[in-house]
Amino acid sequence: MEQRTRESFGSRFAVIMAMAGSAIGLGNIWRFPYMTGRYGGAAFILVYVATSFLLALPIMLSETIIGRRSRSNTFGAMENLAPGTRWKWLGLLTVLSPMLILSYYSVVGGWSVEYLLKSCMQDFVRADSGEVASMFGSFISSAWPPVIMHTVFLLMVAGIVLAGVKSGIERFTKLTMPVLFVLIVLMLVYSVSLPGARKGIMYLVKPDFSRLTAEAVAAAMGQSFFSLSLGVGTMLTYASYIRKDENIFASGVGTAVSDMAFALLAGFAVMPAVFAGGIEPGAGPGLVFETLPFIFNKIGASMPWLGTAISVIFFITILVAALTSAISMMEVGTAYLVEEKHMNRFGAVAVIFCFVWAAGLLCSLSFGPLSHVRIFGNGIFDFLDKLCSNFLMTFGGLLFTVFAGWKMKTSDVRDEFTNGGTIRSNEFWFKTVYFLIRYVAPAAIVMIFVTNLIID
Ligand code: TRP
Repeated sequence: MEQRTRESFGSRFAVIMAMAGSAIGLGNIWRFPYMTGRYGGAAFILVYVATSFLLALPIMLSETIIGRRSRSNTFGAMENLAPGTRWKWLGLLTVLSPMLILSYYSVVGGWSVEYLLKSCMQDFVRADSGEVASMFGSFISSAWPPVIMHTVFLLMVAGIVLAGVKSGIERFTKLTMPVLFVLIVLMLVYSVSLPGARKGIMYLVKPDFSRLTAEAVAAAMGQSFFSLSLGVGTMLTYASYIRKDENIFASGVGTAVSDMAFALLAGFAVMPAVFAGGIEPGAGPGLVFETLPFIFNKIGASMPWLGTAISVIFFITILVAALTSAISMMEVGTAYLVEEKHMNRFGAVAVIFCFVWAAGLLCSLSFGPLSHVRIFGNGIFDFLDKLCSNFLMTFGGLLFTVFAGWKMKTSDVRDEFTNGGTIRSNEFWFKTVYFLIRYVAPAAIVMIFVTNLIID
C-alpha cells in the first residue's frame, strides 16, 4: 500500500476552531437573521435549535465518523470503506458540490470585502440616506466591481488553503475564531442598547406559532444543515485530519453548540438594530447589506467616528467568518486532487480556483448583465443556491447517515465513537446517537426533501 503522510490538527481546541470556523459563516450572520425575519422570529428559532440537535448533529457525527475512520478525502473515504461499490459516486458528488457552493458563497464574500472597504472610506457615514438605499442594488448589479471583489475574496481563500492544514487552516482559524466571538458580542451590546431595540429582542424571544408553516419548518431544517456545513463532505474532510485519540463526539457537540450560539448572538446583534432603524425584518437576503448601513448612517450623523467604527467591526466580522467557511469548502476539492489525482497542493488549488472563479463569475453577473438568463425560472445565483441547499446538501446528508448507519459495521462505528471503548461516557451516548443516525435523521431528511419539492 502506498504510504502517505497526512497532516492532522494539533489539539482539541484546533479541531473545534477549524470545524466551528467552517460552520460559522455567512450562514450565521447573513442568512440566519433574514430567514428568522422571513419565517416569524422566535418560533423559527425553536425549530432551528431542535433540528440542529436531532437531525444536523447526527449527520455531522456520521460525516465525522466516516472521515476519521478513512482518513481520506470524500472520494477516498468511500473507496476505503466500501471498495468497488457505487458509493464512490457519493464521494465524487461531494467533491463537486462544495465547489458549486463556494462559487456563489465567494460572490457574497466579495460583497463583504466591498462593504468593509466602503466602511473604511466612511461611505455609509458620509452618504445621505437616499444614497445608502440605492448603494447595494447598484453595486451588485454593476458588472465589474463585484467580480473584482469576488476575485479578491477567492484569492485570500486560496492563499490560506495553499499554506496547508496546519500552517494555513489551523493557524488562521485558531487566531480568528475567538476574535470573531468578541466582535459579535461588541456588536450585540451596541445593538441592544439602541432606542427601540426592545421590539427586536421581543421578536426573537416571543414565538408566534401561527407563522410556523410547513415551509418554515423545512426552512429551519435547511438552515441548520447549511449552518453546520453538512451533506457535502466538508466536515468529513476536516474530520479526516482529527487525530485518533481525539474525542469526536465532544468535538462535534462543541462545534454544533458554538455554531448555534453564534447564530443566536448574530440574531441579537442584527434584529434589534433592524427594528431600531424601523426596517422590515422580512426584507430577505439584502437584510444585512442593505439595511444595516442605514443604521451606521444614522449613528454617523451625530457621531461619525462611532458610525465608522461599528460598521468596520461589523464587516470585518462578516468577512472573517466567510473566509473560515470558504477555506473548508476549498479544502474538500484540494484534498481530493492531491490524494486521488496526485497533484501538488499548488496545482490543486490553482485548478479549483479557476473552476470556482468562472462559476462565481456567472453568479455575480446574474445580478447585472446576465439577469435575463433564467434556469427553471431562477437567476443563475438563485438557481445554484437552491440546487445546493435544497437538493445536494439534503441528498448528501441522507446518504452519509445511511452510510454510517447501515453500510458501516456497527462495531466500527462504535469503535470510532468511543475510541475503541476507551471513552466511557461516549458508550452511554452511543445508543441514542446511533438511533438518530439510523432512523430519525434519514426519515426526517426524506420529509424535508419532499416538502421542498412540493413547495418549489
Ligand atoms: N456553514 C457555513 C456558513 O454557515 C457555510 C459552509 C461551509 C457550508 N461549508 C459548507 C455550507 C458546506 C454548506 C455546505 O456560512
